[in-house]
Amino acid sequence: MDSTSAEANALSGGDSDSDGRWVNRTDSVDQTLKLGQILGQLVTPGTVLALSGNLGAGKTHFTQGIAMGLGIERKLVNSPTFALIQEYSGRLPVFHFDTYRLRSVDEFLELGFDEYLAAQGVCIIEWGDRVIEVLPADRLTIRISVESDCLRRFDWQSGGVSSGHTLAKLKAAWAE
Ligand SMILES: Nc1ncnc2c1ncn2[C@@H]1O[C@H](COP(=O)(O)OP(=O)(O)O)[C@@H](O)[C@H]1O
Ligand SMILES: [Mg+2]
Repeated sequence: MDSTSAEANALSGGDSDSDGRWVNRTDSVDQTLKLGQILGQLVTPGTVLALSGNLGAGKTHFTQGIAMGLGIERKLVNSPTFALIQEYSGRLPVFHFDTYRLRSVDEFLELGFDEYLAAQGVCIIEWGDRVIEVLPADRLTIRISVESDCLRRFDWQSGGVSSGHTLAKLKAAWAE
């Protein structure tokens, strides 16, 4: 599918082509929480979610939804801008990173990213684009863009078999 027809499909409510991409939108915080919640119910051990998007795009609210879907209290989840990494325990352990204040990819690795990755939980990385080169290829990359006050566009990309399955399940669940 070329980008023009992909765009037309996206505008008609969210669609995808076969290369592991998807576009959808939310028009409220509640809908973003719901999208996250559905994803949180689907994720499998070792899932890596790289979130990007400007300050205020909705990365943290989306993460709160994911946590809710894993049975974690929403209020526990804030931007770990100062802590750099926060852990929550739910159906799976969640490791929530925010790389905004990191100066290098090495600092990210020094937080122990490889060990968190090996812990078979869910790694959620806000500003994941800043450390993309050390993230596994089989991840979901999610770019959130502000389209207007309450409208957010989510651009999804899966990079492997496992993330592709998760994305396919999410698309089906979102359409229900
Ligand atoms: N559809 C939406 N989804 C998520 N947040 C939204 C939406 N519409 C408005 N907002 C607002 O956008 C902001 C998102 O903040 P936050 O999740 O902290 O973003 P980030 O972590 O990307 O900096 C909040 O003030 C929230 O109320
Ligand atoms: Mg944030």
